[in-house]
Amino acid sequence: MKTILVTGAGGYIGSVLTDLLLEKGKKVIGYDRYFFGEDLLGSTLHHPNFKFIKKDIRDIEIKDFKGVDAVCDLASLSNDPSGDIDEKITYSINHLGRVRVACLAKKAGIKKYIIASSCSVYGAGDSNSLTEESKVNPLTTYAKANIKAENDILPLADYSFSVTVLRLATVYGISKRMRFDLVLNLMTLNAFKKGTIFVMGGGKQWRPLVHVRDVAHVFEKVINTIELKKINGEIFNVGSNEQNFQILNISYIIRDSIPFPIALDIIPDDPDKRSYNVLFDKIKKFLNFSPGFSPEDGVKEIYNTLKSGKIDNDIKTVTVKWYKNILEAKKLIDNVYLDGRLL
Ligand SMILES: NC(=O)c1ccc[n+]([C@@H]2O[C@H](COP(=O)([O-])OP(=O)(O)OC[C@H]3O[C@@H](n4cnc5c(N)ncnc54)[C@H](O)[C@@H]3O)[C@@H](O)[C@H]2O)c1
Repeated sequence: MKTILVTGAGGYIGSVLTDLLLEKGKKVIGYDRYFFGEDLLGSTLHHPNFKFIKKDIRDIEIKDFKGVDAVCDLASLSNDPSGDIDEKITYSINHLGRVRVACLAKKAGIKKYIIASSCSVYGAGDSNSLTEESKVNPLTTYAKANIKAENDILPLADYSFSVTVLRLATVYGISKRMRFDLVLNLMTLNAFKKGTIFVMGGGKQWRPLVHVRDVAHVFEKVINTIELKKINGEIFNVGSNEQNFQILNISYIIRDSIPFPIALDIIPDDPDKRSYNVLFDKIKKFLNFSPGFSPEDGVKEIYNTLKSGKIDNDIKTVTVKWYKNILEAKKLIDNVYLDGRLL
């Protein structure tokens, strides 16, 4: 597996995965609509083994797969609130767009396809230990689109086309496309900026965590797995039993990892009703995966990067705000655009 097409290469996980694959000597085709700007990729854009394609997954064509050995499909509207902006658009990208990527990849003769799904498909899980076999309970358009994509893509798996579904836990850590809308990242930001961690919904909700570089390693592991029976047609929860937390405990870890006093503000209400207590035995057993990073590592790297001034919580770091901002900007321009002139 030499050449990997990464959709969503300009995203929080995709940019870290791209750099990891390049580091490991792979060639990467970074296929993305680049909603957050391609400039954030920095020197990666000029890497000799990196090829840049700025295109929507809904328009992907067979020719885009030329020379590709494996596809990591990460492009999507990447969280529940963004998926709620416009249900139809969400299904067109997160469901049908990804089905298009998978179908054309198969048609183009690609050997391996790996899709980023989410543990949020378990919704408000009623079991205490959700496995890949457990009943899903998607509560949002985002989660429902993930299930629809999984259900349509998994049956494409056969002896010549390997399909693997990775249901990611909530990711944390530093990325070039920083996200401060993920629980550990956001709590760390508030601790740093306001000296307070806000714990929504009482904090009893379960939320498994995984570091962004560990996620990239899992994609790389699947790419490099030769024994296809381990991964083909398989779903894996991506995370670890050690990092399966109730949200209140995440706030304690952050408070204890920051070198000044932090207050906890526990707010009983939260419109987000998700709670999922997930088991990660399968990925440990079949892919021999154990995390290389802990939440404490994540908090420290975010804290240090905020302190250094290298990142800030600008609007692009909150996915739903950025997408709403793009839509508002379009309305504004449409209003003043006249006879082919803006000014
Ligand atoms: N970050 C997490 O905690 C997490 C957890 C579970 C699952 N996931 C999944 O992992 C994947 C990557 O997530 P992320 O955190 O990197 O999100 P992200 O929003 O940072 O990245 C998504 C990328 O997809 C691109 N994109 C969106 N629509 C596109 C389209 N129509 N055509 C081409 N490109 C398009 C965006 O420009 C962006 O660069 C997503 O599918 C997400 O649902 C993420």
